[in-house]
Parts: sequence; structure tokens; C-alpha cells
Amino acid sequence: MSALVGPPAYCAHIAEVLLSQEQLRRRVGELAAEVSRDYAGKDLVLIGVLNGAVVFLADLLRALTIPAELEFVGASSYGDGIVSYGTCELTKDLDRSIEGKHAVVVEDIVDTGRTLAALVECLELKGAASVEVCALLDKPSRRTVELHPRYIGFEIPDSFVVGYGLDFAQHYRGLPYVAVLEPEAYESTT
Ligand code: PRP
Repeated sequence: MSALVGPPAYCAHIAEVLLSQEQLRRRVGELAAEVSRDYAGKDLVLIGVLNGAVVFLADLLRALTIPAELEFVGASSYGDGIVSYGTCELTKDLDRSIEGKHAVVVEDIVDTGRTLAALVECLELKGAASVEVCALLDKPSRRTVELHPRYIGFEIPDSFVVGYGLDFAQHYRGLPYVAVLEPEAYESTT
């Protein structure tokens, strides 16, 4: 394997590169083309879910060929999910109204689906004209709630992945690829 890009302290704990920079670049371009085609002529707002979505969102936004606004929300997982259904609690709310706009929620990964299911419901309550999900990674084997993102970058197996926005204990987000972490890297601290 050629030398890994990234801080040596991070590279030392990487078991395998799951998605290379080139794979990510190509797929993000394809997703941006799909979104651009589907939302041409519509009032589009991309809503990034902090913190994991920022790297993917930045690349997706720059690859769009149509105008789009940008917003962020915060949602923190706890217990069985971030909210009870029918309510709308965010750790960081939207800064502007999305009433009448077409929202695409941008996420790094869908796991159980609870975070996004609750977020979609929340954004619908705020009066969006439509709400769809664009997730870079999907672990369908982990799903516990009904959630079918309109746009998915890659389906991946149930392994612990970091990089391209995804973290372990807030680290590794800056790696430009998606990698599987050596189990020792997280077993020693969990
Ligand atoms: C991750 C990810 C999603 C959520 C997915 O966020 O970014 O928001 O978990 O899990 P779910 O499908 O089981 O709900 P995390 O809480 O790790 O925060 P982060 O984005 O700041 O890394």
C-alpha cells in the first residue's frame, strides 16, 4: 500500500482505506449532478448536520451547477435517538426560515436512521416545501427506523469508519478519505 495521506498519528491507526479520495471525488460529483438536475428551477437549501457532514457538504455544494442556500443544524444523539417523534429539538437550530423552500439534508452517515428520521420530521414542521436526504454513507444493516434517503453515496458494511468528516472521539475528521480504524485505536479508550 502506498503511504497514507494525513497526520502520522492518525495514519498509524488505520487498518484499511475503504473509499479513496478519487472514489469520493467522483461519487460526490455524481451526486451533485443528480441534485442539480432534480432541483433545477427550485428554491434549494442544503442543510448540513453538524459536525460530521461539513467535509462532504463543502465538496457537494461546490460541485452543484444550480444556486443553493446553505444552512446548518445540530443534532446530538442520546439513548434511543435525538428526539421523541412529534417534537422538534435541535442542539443548533436553523438561522433562517426554510418555509416554502426545498430542503436537502446533507449527512455523512446513516446508521440506525434515528437522527435523520427525527430531523426530516422537524424540518417538515418548519414548513419546508419538501425535505429529502443526501447521505454520503449508508449502513443499511444497522437501520432501526424506516428511512430511505433519496441520495446515497456508498453503502458500506458495519465497520467503524473515520475520515472525510467522520470522527472517533472528535479526531480523524480531516483525513481526505474514508478509512477503517484498527480496533485497538478505539478499544483502548472505550
Ligand atoms: C453521526 C452522524 C449522524 C448520526 C447517524 O453523528 O453524523 O448524525 O450519527 O446515526 P443514526 O443513524 O444512528 O442516528 P454523531 O452523533 O456521531 O455526531 P457528529 O456528526 O458530530 O460526528
